[in-house]
Amino acid sequence: MKICVIGTGYVGLVGAAVFAEFGHNVIGVDNNAKKIELIKKGKMPIYEPGLEELVAKNVKNGKLEFTTDFDRAVKKSEVIFVCVGTPSNQSGAADLSYVWSVAKSIAKSMNSYKVVVIKSTVPVGTNEEVERIILANVAKGIKFDMVSCPEFLREGYSIYDSFNADRVVIGGKTQKAIDIIKKIYAKLDCPFIECDLRSAEMIKYAANAFLATKISFINEIAQICERAGSDVVKVAEGMGYDKRIGKAFLKAGLGYGGSCFPKDVEALYRTSTDQAYDFRLLRGVMDVNEAQRTNFISKVKRVLGGSVGGKTIGCLGLAFKENTDDVRKSVSIDVVRLLRGEGAKVKVFDPIAMESSKKELGEVGIQYCREPQEVFEGVEALCILTEWEEFKAYDYAKWGKLMTKKIVFDGRNLLDPKSMEKLGFKYYGVGRGSNGWSLASTGAIFDQKHHQ
Ligand code: UDX
Ligand code: UDX
Repeated sequence: MKICVIGTGYVGLVGAAVFAEFGHNVIGVDNNAKKIELIKKGKMPIYEPGLEELVAKNVKNGKLEFTTDFDRAVKKSEVIFVCVGTPSNQSGAADLSYVWSVAKSIAKSMNSYKVVVIKSTVPVGTNEEVERIILANVAKGIKFDMVSCPEFLREGYSIYDSFNADRVVIGGKTQKAIDIIKKIYAKLDCPFIECDLRSAEMIKYAANAFLATKISFINEIAQICERAGSDVVKVAEGMGYDKRIGKAFLKAGLGYGGSCFPKDVEALYRTSTDQAYDFRLLRGVMDVNEAQRTNFISKVKRVLGGSVGGKTIGCLGLAFKENTDDVRKSVSIDVVRLLRGEGAKVKVFDPIAMESSKKELGEVGIQYCREPQEVFEGVEALCILTEWEEFKAYDYAKWGKLMTKKIVFDGRNLLDPKSMEKLGFKYYGVGRGSNGWSLASTGAIFDQKHHQ
């Protein structure tokens, strides 16, 4: 199959490489000439494990090419995947301006029957609007079909997720178009969900909103655990073995960030109000998520005697989650900002996301450390903000000696409280009320002893 992928961001670049690996002939198009130049040189504009090798392999065997020549790419292809960004606008709704302009351009370049597939996350009704735009701009007699095929990959695991998809959702008006997309994904051994355009669009939002709800739910449980003297990690484990609940997405912490969850939850809420319905649960999900970071800062301040002003705090992790250099809507970045705003001097380290973080945070009040152990030197507390696996393997016994005070605030419950306490650290996780401390032990809430 001849495929063109418009937009070579996380979704488009990975998608293009994966389609080529499936055996199709793929052209990746982007209007950012620098990005295309970089990719052509074999350098990836994003950090994604396994991507560089997959792109190199398929470019070499002639299955994959990259260009800024939109017109040629569309003309040569039978199927066009739209993977341009759909950021939030000021009101929280999805900004679809890229989608509209790409739709117009596709229409003008179309010279024969094409299937136009929207992969970007777009609100219900967008595919139909794109269809109207193309119809209004395409040359007479040229036919096309719309398909909504949302992407479910996780950053940092996108190659793995692409080859091990849980399902492929294919929404369309004609069986002909749905069958073409099924052919593209034929190598995958997973259910194909065939449906109408509007249901496919909704599936993506509902799935992301449900996962965000799971995170906010466990974060609320964590808050109660801190007060009641329970350990949220054990609670989540105990809940997760129930197959109806499942283990995934029950990690309490600082809350969800990234380019998808915050934006998609907000956009779905907007969709509900646009339909004159108040999606109350989602309001709660967003509130809880915001509160997690301020609760964390309050905890740090309380333990450090009421304020962080003038104190030096070390922070490990800046990316919105592990295995990525993406800092879009990163809660870790927000926490660093809040600490700085409270007057702390902040030392930071991230295994991959240092450069992208500099662009977000600037230089004022932040010391960017080259090595992780530098973060420990002379700090009054260490905050773990992103769930990088490698943080577990650090030499806390040795590096802890470099700290002014051995206090750890583990915003991702990454470390073992008991081992840290054995090393002489005061350890504060999120919702770990039964591990030698609780909000009660910081004097903030009722005395735990009354409840034993
Ligand atoms: C994707 C989806 O598109 C988004 O809807 C989903 O919710 C998250 O993932 P992502 O791949 O992360 O977005 O976006 P981004 O990394 O911003 O990439 C979009 C690419 O499209 C960029 O490379 C940009 O240069 C390109 N683009 C944008 C075009 O080629 N043409 C345009 O008109 C606009
Ligand atoms: C998400 C969806 O998982 C994916 O299906 C969709 O296509 C895009 O959005 P992504 O944003 O890459 O993927 O990251 P994900 O692994 O889902 O994590 C999102 C955020 O939730 C991160 O900030 C992470 O730290 C947080 N998270 C995740 C938790 O706080 N607890 C958890 O248990 C899981």
